[in-house]
Amino acid sequence: MKRIFSGIQPSGVVHIGNYLGAIKQFVELQNQDAECIYCIVDLHTITVPQDPEALKKNILSVAAIYLACGVDPEKSTIFVQSHRPEVAELSWILNCHTYMGELERMAQFKEKAGENRKSVSAGLFDYPVLMAADILLYRTTDVPVGEDQKQHIEITRDIAERINNKYGQVFTVPNPLIKKETARIMGLDDPKKKMAKSASTAFNYIALTDEPDVIRDKIKRAVTDSGSEIKAASDKPAISNLLTIFSGISGKSIAELEQEFEGKNYSEFKSDLAEAVVRFLTPIQKKYNELMSEPEKLREILNAGAKKLEPIAKKTLIEVKSKIGLG
Ligand code: TYM
Repeated sequence: MKRIFSGIQPSGVVHIGNYLGAIKQFVELQNQDAECIYCIVDLHTITVPQDPEALKKNILSVAAIYLACGVDPEKSTIFVQSHRPEVAELSWILNCHTYMGELERMAQFKEKAGENRKSVSAGLFDYPVLMAADILLYRTTDVPVGEDQKQHIEITRDIAERINNKYGQVFTVPNPLIKKETARIMGLDDPKKKMAKSASTAFNYIALTDEPDVIRDKIKRAVTDSGSEIKAASDKPAISNLLTIFSGISGKSIAELEQEFEGKNYSEFKSDLAEAVVRFLTPIQKKYNELMSEPEKLREILNAGAKKLEPIAKKTLIEVKSKIGLG
């Protein structure tokens, strides 16, 4: 049976790119023949400075987002990364089998550290190893993610294979599950850059919790391309991106949408897209607000998730330690 593992950082907003690249797949997978584990990766989030009170709230907020988007705790295990401390121990072991050169090549590190390499945390550099520990600890077969995490899954595979080759079969080597159409949702303000929580302006993204009028305003202001046709094409990156979002939330194909908007202008298209996003997010936001008003319930779900995973986490760690000669 497949074991699915994935995670989202509790670092502020969750946006429609996170939904289309990741969460949508999480929901689909739990209804297939697979065991699904979805994590709130708080240890990854502290690789850059955080406000403790905001972080605590954001952890519950991601849990509420998971549930509001349709992740069902009866079918999937939802938990907070730091509630299973085995991951930190495994991370250390993996660190000792990972090369500095491999980590230096990671695109996300280069992008996040920028020119600032001397003053970012060692945790930021080591981020992919902790991610590998997440995936390998739970003997994951498949990892649903957006395109930006592909390189991190590749290094996870490399580390797992390296250890398996050296000590004999220890780890399951995982595969990335990337949905081609929605793997990389681009920023509304710049279709050459991906939609990102860390964007310098909130006009880059649609947060799942944005108010209807904010959504309308953001889509109205979204960058468009030259020409007037509503068509997905390589010389129309902005309209292509808006069509991808429209298709992802409505279930209509891009071809259907192109046909629907034939002869219409950008402004009509944007206004219909905005209403479709509002319609899509309204029930999610209602559920989200209900869940956030009952934090104890959320905590119970998260605690139950971490408890359920204890045996498998402990078992993997004992096996790994024994293979490599510890204890
Ligand atoms: P994070 O929190 O940055 O993003 C969560 C998920 O959303 C996807 N994503 C996107 N997909 C499409 N278009 C976009 N513009 C876009 N932006 C983000 C991400 O690819 C991701 O799937 N390192 C991970 C969290 C993590 C993890 C793991 C994932 C930690 N451990 C183990 C899988 C397995 C991250 O920072 O995701």
